[in-house]
Amino acid sequence: MSWEKKRLVIVGGGSGIARRIAVDAAAAGAEVVLAGRNPAEFTDPGIRPEFADLGDESSLKALAEEVGELDYLVTLAAAPANGPFTTLERDAVARAFDAKVIGPMMLAKHFAPRFREGGAIVLFSGVAAWRPMPERAVMATTNGAVAFLAEALAVDLAPVRVNAVSPGIVDSGAWDGLGEAKDEFFRRTAETNPARRVGTTADVSAATLSLLANPFVTGTTLHVDGGARLS
Ligand SMILES: NC(=O)c1ccc[n+]([C@@H]2O[C@H](COP(=O)([O-])OP(=O)(O)OC[C@H]3O[C@@H](n4cnc5c(N)ncnc54)[C@H](OP(=O)(O)O)[C@@H]3O)[C@@H](O)[C@H]2O)c1
Repeated sequence: MSWEKKRLVIVGGGSGIARRIAVDAAAAGAEVVLAGRNPAEFTDPGIRPEFADLGDESSLKALAEEVGELDYLVTLAAAPANGPFTTLERDAVARAFDAKVIGPMMLAKHFAPRFREGGAIVLFSGVAAWRPMPERAVMATTNGAVAFLAEALAVDLAPVRVNAVSPGIVDSGAWDGLGEAKDEFFRRTAETNPARRVGTTADVSAATLSLLANPFVTGTTLHVDGGARLS
């Protein structure tokens, strides 16, 4: 399929994976809108920056009105509320659900009437749902909810197709805060992962673009995790 003249809206532009999808789609000829809370940081050539906060429905409505018609929508923000369960703060849990679940629901609400024929949505889940770990309960729950949301919206918004991507550990910039411990974390991850490596933003971008383009895939979660959920 040709990406020429296809309009792709990506929300959660602060994510390293988002930026890679935006660059790859633009290089393939798509008209790309990259939306997030800090659009001044989205300076890639040929990509239109817009404001969107998944915790603020009015900003998502305004984005939909500004964009008008579209072919594809990808939402991949995350606001993890990790840590000991006994210290969990309600506001942090609400932000985590806004970024992954409630915000994407509101996006779908405002964008649904605007899809051209063949339109599709990709939501972002994550391996934590299938491999729960201590101090990651909120992450596991939001990611799990995304997989069910993709199934429910595939039925509710049909014929707009709705799928989810579930990445494993990906070198997207999200782990840079580990500092020197990052290399060791990636080495240990690669050791146990059936693919024997961590993921790249290119791996996830290719899977996302293929889900958007394939006209007969809907209601599916595609695991781009190197088999991590099986290890
Ligand atoms: N990287 C991995 O190893 C991995 C593993 C499993 C799943 N995933 C999933 O894949 C997706 C992309 O991951 P990533 O590593 O590229 O991203 P990331 O580094 O986790 O960044 C996510 C970005 O979401 C943005 N965000 C948070 N709350 C938002 C809100 N309310 N509205 C709009 N944007 C908001 C933040 O950017 P601003 O602060 O600039 O707004 C943040 O930098 C996420 O859903 C993540 O959970 C990633």
